Amino acid sequence: MRTRPATADTIPFFKAHFPGEPRVFRAPGRVNIIGEHTDNYDGYVFPIAVSMATTAAIAPRRDRTIRVWSENMRELASLPLDALERRGHWSDYVAGVAAMLQADGITLPGADMCVVSDVPIGGGLSSSAALEISAAMAFLSLVDHSLDGVALAKLGRRAENEFVGMNCGIMDQFVAVHAERGKGLLLDCRTLDYELVPLPAGEAAVVVCNTMVKHELGASEYNARRADTLAGTELLKAIYPEIRALRDVSSGMLEQSAHRLPEHIRRRCRHVITENQRVLDGVAALKEGRLEAFGDLMNASHESLRTDYEVSCKELDIMVEIARSLPGVLGARMTGGGFGGCTVNLVRPDRVPAFREEIAHRYHQATGLKPDIFVTEPMEGAREVV
Ligand code: GLA
Repeated sequence: MRTRPATADTIPFFKAHFPGEPRVFRAPGRVNIIGEHTDNYDGYVFPIAVSMATTAAIAPRRDRTIRVWSENMRELASLPLDALERRGHWSDYVAGVAAMLQADGITLPGADMCVVSDVPIGGGLSSSAALEISAAMAFLSLVDHSLDGVALAKLGRRAENEFVGMNCGIMDQFVAVHAERGKGLLLDCRTLDYELVPLPAGEAAVVVCNTMVKHELGASEYNARRADTLAGTELLKAIYPEIRALRDVSSGMLEQSAHRLPEHIRRRCRHVITENQRVLDGVAALKEGRLEAFGDLMNASHESLRTDYEVSCKELDIMVEIARSLPGVLGARMTGGGFGGCTVNLVRPDRVPAFREEIAHRYHQATGLKPDIFVTEPMEGAREVV
């Protein structure tokens, strides 16, 4: 496999394909610490931005074409600004952002763009949101128009919902824009109010383990779970007319109306309801320095995703199980949409070297796969690279 290109080389990569002096914008990938599959239901999430990112270098053209070179794909895509359409291709994320900007009445000029990413693609670290946000900032730099952070995040989400056809929530784009170094981002996905909460780096390291698998059913199952959960919300609305989303339903309310919901729909809803509570309890524990309690909630989150929401897979379960058997691990869970991708682990810093070695060895023994393992601090959100 080709090693991932370095984002620091974005300008040379641009110049290898296009004339002119580009401006460069950088947006990070993310790892969600807790609060999985809640953002679509007005819930709470607690992600951080990671050190890996996508960069987009851009310079204007005189015609009405966007030419995008992807250094990762080593491929040039030509996107006609007046006839943008989904092609089932990596460039859809860039085309989607351009289409949404134009739908909002922002006239874009043609452009040459070079995108480079060291976020593993399809690894559950939101390479797509990093591409959307870096591309959106690049396009906006060519016109006399700016968007605030919330509008930028919403634009990226719309590109994915309306153009790419993935019914994702707002978490990935929001954290790619608003993250801050050293902090996790507690986001209320209903109001979009957020709070940046310090993660005590000296006491717990965030270690991400990539299972190296990505099962194909990811996108279709994501949309299917969402459909189940929204069907459950409609059934619950018939009993509790005051609710707007699962965010408004307590565990007690769900239990009392359990017989009115098909069994699998009840489990989908139970995941969302209990996960929202875990985010709030987790952040409270973090603020009080109760890291063991926070880790227990991460563990419970994985169990709920595995048995109630059913978005885990064999490789994620193996990785989590190995992690939990190792010393110094406070909590371990799958992160992101599921069906492959990464796990996130909170590990006592002095145990990290042994953890890395041991989990890589045991996962390889169990699956025959060599996992990518990296330690990340919470990083800052998207910005221009100067
Ligand atoms: C994907 C989506 C997010 C979120 C997560 C699950 O990453 O893009 O909006 O729903 O899955 O928490």
